[in-house]
Amino acid sequence: MKVTVVGAGGNVGSTVSMSIAQRDFAKEVVMVDIVKEKDGEKFYPSKGRALDQWESSPIHKFDTKLTGTVDYEDTAGSDVCVITAGVPRRPGMSRDDLLEINANIVGSVTEQLVKHSPNTILIIVSNPLDVMAQVAYETSGLDSNRVMGMAGILDTARYRSFLAEELDVSPKDIQALLLGGHGDTMVPLPRFTTISGMPVTQFIDEDKLDEIVERTKGGGGELVNLMGTSAWYAPGAAAAQMVEAIILDQNRVFPCAAYLNGEYGHEELFLGVPVKLGKDGIKKIIEVDLNDEEQQLMDTSADHVHSVLSEFRKLMDK
Ligand code: APR
Repeated sequence: MKVTVVGAGGNVGSTVSMSIAQRDFAKEVVMVDIVKEKDGEKFYPSKGRALDQWESSPIHKFDTKLTGTVDYEDTAGSDVCVITAGVPRRPGMSRDDLLEINANIVGSVTEQLVKHSPNTILIIVSNPLDVMAQVAYETSGLDSNRVMGMAGILDTARYRSFLAEELDVSPKDIQALLLGGHGDTMVPLPRFTTISGMPVTQFIDEDKLDEIVERTKGGGGELVNLMGTSAWYAPGAAAAQMVEAIILDQNRVFPCAAYLNGEYGHEELFLGVPVKLGKDGIKKIIEVDLNDEEQQLMDTSADHVHSVLSEFRKLMDK
């Protein structure tokens, strides 16, 4: 099975490639980026990072072949393509501030990928995530089950890691669900959060849980402020987990940004919802019953994604 990662000369893309290789389930990973120029010299970050990672294979003990390229012909026949190309957030920027630049990049990358792999599955990581998934979907002409965004796994991982720290239990034993857009309006759902099946609400007081929910919503920004750029280890690992679920046809159930056709009362937009992930991408969008408060939060999140989407449409009409 062949996987392509675009933007792989950068932080998130190279972490996706490395995480895939370390899990050792794919035959090959093709890492794509652009040629960079500095002081009149040309550099090939995707080739460099691929070579560096491949040289770690005897130590990490994986067979997955990593190759770097700037030529989309090398991506032909990819089963899954991950798009991380674009600019990252800097302090003071929201994900939505990246809209125009990243929309152009994601659109042109999608065209190239689908030209060489017309039946691929696309996982979008570039921000603003929900709208970039829509750009890829509309540009690709692929069925909606074959285009998705990576956000929910990352956001729940952040939420679970904060809870694990607070409760002093293993992060492995915290299960959680989080819906909505990948931004401040995301909807963590304490009602669906458990420690090995036991409701988390029995182990933490409401104020502390609210604090953790708020920290999760701002989790990306917290890292931007610490590092001056956006995160890569957890985003990279999250995208690799989606690739693994698809390649190994695992039927994993994860929150992902999926194209809605009436589910949760919304249509014609990408929003984070629980899905069953395997061969052919999203096999099913899973609908859980939300209470009024949760549905309202979901609607607010959808309104936000709609407003960024209409901003994008205005930009494209210019
Ligand atoms: N084709 C291929 N690669 C591109 C293109 C393009 N048209 N335009 C930019 N890139 C590459 C850059 O050359 C760079 O190597 O995308 C890479 C992005 O890497 P970083 O700048 O390190 O950014 P990163 O932190 O990886 O974030 C990338 O993921 O999480 C999101 O918000 C984040 O949208 C951002 C994306």
